[in-house]
Amino acid sequence: MKKKLVISTGAGMSAESGISTFRDAGGLWENYNVMDVASADGFRRNPALIHQFYNDRRRQLVEAEPNAGHLGLVDLEKDFDVYVITQNVDNLHERAGSSHVLHLHGELMKVRATDDPDLIWELKPGALETTPATRIEGHQVRPHIVFFQEAVPNIEPAIQLAMEADIFVVIGTSLAVYPAASLIQFVRPGVPVYYIDPHPAEVPAGVTVLRMTASEGVAHLARILRGE
Ligand code: OAD
Repeated sequence: MKKKLVISTGAGMSAESGISTFRDAGGLWENYNVMDVASADGFRRNPALIHQFYNDRRRQLVEAEPNAGHLGLVDLEKDFDVYVITQNVDNLHERAGSSHVLHLHGELMKVRATDDPDLIWELKPGALETTPATRIEGHQVRPHIVFFQEAVPNIEPAIQLAMEADIFVVIGTSLAVYPAASLIQFVRPGVPVYYIDPHPAEVPAGVTVLRMTASEGVAHLARILRGE
């Protein structure tokens, strides 16, 4: 039976695809006030600004391609049962071909009804712009994004995956945002944990830190895991 390899990714996973990270120099939170463009209060105050912010993110995403790191995780499916948990709202893991992707913070290419969280639509290519006036099937829509001050509905299945992991890997996240950053705490004692990041945050003793970009780190990790 294949070992269960659980991979938790953040913005650094997509950096080499040209998608901006948040907290690096030049990152998104240097140019925007996070509480204006990514919080529930901000959405109540100025929904037009938030629609605009996510329209810009969608425009950036359609120009982007999965990088060698995303593709390397797909290749690991030959030898492992790979489950990706991502804080990223882009769809680059899916477009690379990963079979199991769980989004913790929502999905950029989806919107949902403001009056019913279970009504979710995938935006169609060529119709990726939304405003507070956009209606789908009669419903006003909002980005399908977990704003600050909102619950993270997928954290429970993510914790479950972390507890079941035979190998756990963290890639490209500053580990600044909870509950995503807490997943590492649910890994069973004795399970090998790797953290790939060129500027890693502090992590518990015993974690193997690979101070590399996602593409370099995934290639290196594959060699370690395959015993090469
Ligand atoms: P951050 O911007 O906080 O952290 C990005 C991490 O990626 C840093 O640790 C960088 O060192 C690393 N990094 C940069 N380039 C890299 C590369 N080429 N390869 C690998 N790693 C690289 O992003 P997140 O930790 O993902 O939430 O941020 C978490 C959440 O904060 C996001 O999901 C977003 C944000 O607010 C929402 O908007 C809901």
